[in-house]
Amino acid sequence: MKRFDAEPDRSKMKARNLDVLCVSDMCVDLVMWGNVRPRFGQVEQLVEDYLVELGGSANIFACQFAKLGGRAGVVGHVGHDAFGELSLKRLSECGVDTSLVKISEELKTGLGIALTEPDDRAILTVLGTIDATAPEELTPEVAGSCRHWHIASYFLLNSLRETWLDWLKFCRQKGVTTSLDTNWDPAGLWHGILDLLPWVDVFLPNEQEALALTGEESAESAGKRLAEYGPIVVIKCGRRGALAFHGSERWNYKIEETIEPADSVGAGDNFDAGFLRGWLLGYDVEACLHLGHRCAASSLRDTGGISGQLREIIA
Ligand SMILES: Nc1ncnc2c1ncn2[C@@H]1O[C@H](COP(=O)(O)OP(=O)(O)OP(=O)(O)O)[C@@H](O)[C@H]1O
Ligand SMILES: [Mg+2]
Repeated sequence: MKRFDAEPDRSKMKARNLDVLCVSDMCVDLVMWGNVRPRFGQVEQLVEDYLVELGGSANIFACQFAKLGGRAGVVGHVGHDAFGELSLKRLSECGVDTSLVKISEELKTGLGIALTEPDDRAILTVLGTIDATAPEELTPEVAGSCRHWHIASYFLLNSLRETWLDWLKFCRQKGVTTSLDTNWDPAGLWHGILDLLPWVDVFLPNEQEALALTGEESAESAGKRLAEYGPIVVIKCGRRGALAFHGSERWNYKIEETIEPADSVGAGDNFDAGFLRGWLLGYDVEACLHLGHRCAASSLRDTGGISGQLREIIA
């Protein structure tokens, strides 16, 4: 492992006293739109436009958290390549601590190529560094450097699947609060999640994920069921807003204005950042939901998960 020489401010950044840390599903997104449905047989097709931007749920989350004035860091790896350099640059520009990101000589930076049509998209993914973080990298020092641990993209971080239960227990023992956003399980199995929930403080699935996880038919009943495991459960329901559950308490956050999104990349991750920024500042659940929604709505107005993020110091 070797660090880039051309990254002057990284050496000054220390992963200490962070509000939030998470393992990064490190990748870059290449998003193309227009006439993007490929035709094989040597056809050269002209498409309308493209965007290259930092991707990865954890990165999007950490960037939004930092733009709200929180101290956020990521643990992870980038390849020793142009996309690795771009990833570090964008994280640093957003104010995210990258001192726990290593540069791999063996792996390429993960890449997601999204071919976007108005109502659908296809994504081609090269895993590369996405799942590069090994259990040995989660040390007591790492847990001790933050107040809160967020798990994003649980189902893409295969190397850490068996580690999370002990890690969450360790965090609780050390007074580090925790949150989990699994995103969708490509295998459709949802293994392991319910076992983690008693050790998670804030669980943030979307509606489809909550239904798949519980086998329930409504977000309402899924939320109640999931809350029985202990955490505050926040179910993101797209343009219908969000529901929250804790013990026997329940909140229904209705949005005032529906947005026609530029694209939906990162809405959920940005929501998580807003909600958790509020929660870690001691806001009540209603105010956390409102801040979460404002972050999601802001990102929906722009392409990619990062460029439209809300910039507002919340203290
Ligand atoms: N069309 C919309 N108009 C206004 N707000 C929206 C719209 N779609 C989503 N939101 C806001 O974004 C939040 C998160 O969106 P969503 O429920 O799609 O999360 P998600 O499925 O986890 O997203 P992701 O696909 O990024 O993981 C919603 O709870 C809501 O506050
Ligand atoms: Mg999501």
